[in-house]
Amino acid sequence: MPTTPRSRSQARTTRSWILSGMDFGDTRRKPNFAGKIAVAAALTVMCILVLKQSPGFGGTSVFSRHETGVTHVLVTGGAGYIGSHATLRLLTDNYRVTIVDNLSRGNMGAVRALQRLFPEPGRLQFIYTDLGDPKAVNKMFSENAFDAVMHFAAVAYVGESTQEPLRYYHNITSNTLTVLEAMAAHNVKTLIYSSTCATYGEPDTMPIVETTPQIPINPYGKAKKMSEDIILDFSKKSNMAVMILRILQCDWIGP
Ligand SMILES: NC(=O)c1ccc[n+]([C@@H]2O[C@H](COP(=O)([O-])OP(=O)(O)OC[C@H]3O[C@@H](n4cnc5c(N)ncnc54)[C@H](O)[C@@H]3O)[C@@H](O)[C@H]2O)c1
Repeated sequence: MPTTPRSRSQARTTRSWILSGMDFGDTRRKPNFAGKIAVAAALTVMCILVLKQSPGFGGTSVFSRHETGVTHVLVTGGAGYIGSHATLRLLTDNYRVTIVDNLSRGNMGAVRALQRLFPEPGRLQFIYTDLGDPKAVNKMFSENAFDAVMHFAAVAYVGESTQEPLRYYHNITSNTLTVLEAMAAHNVKTLIYSSTCATYGEPDTMPIVETTPQIPINPYGKAKKMSEDIILDFSKKSNMAVMILRILQCDWIGP
């Protein structure tokens, strides 16, 4: 950082004098390493403290602590149609909500609209994660204190499921198992699962009632039925409270 213009013909001694003014090149001076290390350490501590205050910092945000009187719900697929409306209702009713979504089908605009409606700290956070990644799911459960899960995330087209059955079994059945295992490992004891009337197939009698036999006829319905079975089997052997919603066509809940 020279302060005066220097011509090429200037003597080298002059240059080294300028450098020595910057604490370089003068071997007679002892650099104050201890002081610099102390300053660096202090700055590092300050940065960590600031980071710890920020909402997304692993393990230290309000979302990572259980709080008396506050129920923290994980809404999977909360950027999607039903999940975003469920989140709106939960927030309106004073729940704390974490949305997890991989945005493969969902709409980040819905999440932003919810964040604008409920901007207070500790109300709503969004986590971009694919439920097909068990490590990421486990990390999310480790870093957040959930009291309940509403599991909406899924690919959900009957026709597509016949074209890409493996995708459907993976996205629906395998991911539900991942969510359930993470819940069990982290002691989360309430699950609401979004299933479908497609698990009934083509029933002999109408209307469909709770006891109508479930005989699905496509990979979408079969993948959901398998998820239901896994959830119900697990709930029988654990103290997890589960509810299964077999949703019919749902296009009436709002924009
Ligand atoms: N909409 C209906 O009429 C209807 C009818 C019956 C059942 N359902 C069920 O309700 C649930 C929600 O349906 P919707 O209409 O809101 O669908 P949607 O496509 O609007 O929402 C699903 C959300 O899940 C997310 N998602 C998908 N795979 C994911 C993954 N691997 N990881 C993280 N996020 C993922 C998508 O990005 C999307 O935001 C689904 O489980 C669906 O099977 C819906």
